[in-house]
Amino acid sequence: MQKTVTVHNKEFVKYISSEKIQKAVGKIAARINKDSKNDRPLFLAVLNGSFLFSADLLRKIKIECEISFTKIASYSGTKSGKASTLIGINQDLKGRTVIVLEDIVDSGNTLVKIFAELKKHKPKKVKIATLFFKPHAYKKNIKLDYVGMNMPNDFLIGYGLDYDGLGRNLTDIYILKK
Ligand code: IMP
Ligand code: MG
Repeated sequence: MQKTVTVHNKEFVKYISSEKIQKAVGKIAARINKDSKNDRPLFLAVLNGSFLFSADLLRKIKIECEISFTKIASYSGTKSGKASTLIGINQDLKGRTVIVLEDIVDSGNTLVKIFAELKKHKPKKVKIATLFFKPHAYKKNIKLDYVGMNMPNDFLIGYGLDYDGLGRNLTDIYILKK
């Protein structure tokens, strides 16, 4: 029998084991260890979803590095529509290699906002590491430097990913039952 969980009255089926997740995290870490040996990168984890990914990844990073945490806050701009900003960036990013840590890239809208905001800080380079990626949903051109696993265009929970606030604590990934 497949393992299922019920969250907010929706049923989810176990989809990716924690062992597979750790392997994917390890592969990303190995590549960053090689690619950024001389960069002293600043990892920028995008909260809330990437808290487990960033913690597990950092334990596997063996090069000199820093980590900071940011969150996208939206506010009502002076014109119509919402504007967004990145809160929590205290470091000087000027001239730094910044590696953004995302839990999942779906349409890419969030990434575009993060990218635009980071550019204002004049970093030397911005790289993107995402644990999960939905290639069929992605509509943007920003290059994803490190992708842990491609995912189908379905709703997932676990390992940091939530459904309306719940499910982040699950160690495996679960997919919405059809
Ligand atoms: P995007 O802006 O469409 O790329 O979506 C990015 C954000 O939406 C992620 O950082 C997640 O917070 C959330 N998200 C996208 N897909 C899922 C999912 O399958 N489960 C839970 N959250 C998701
Ligand atoms: Mg997120």
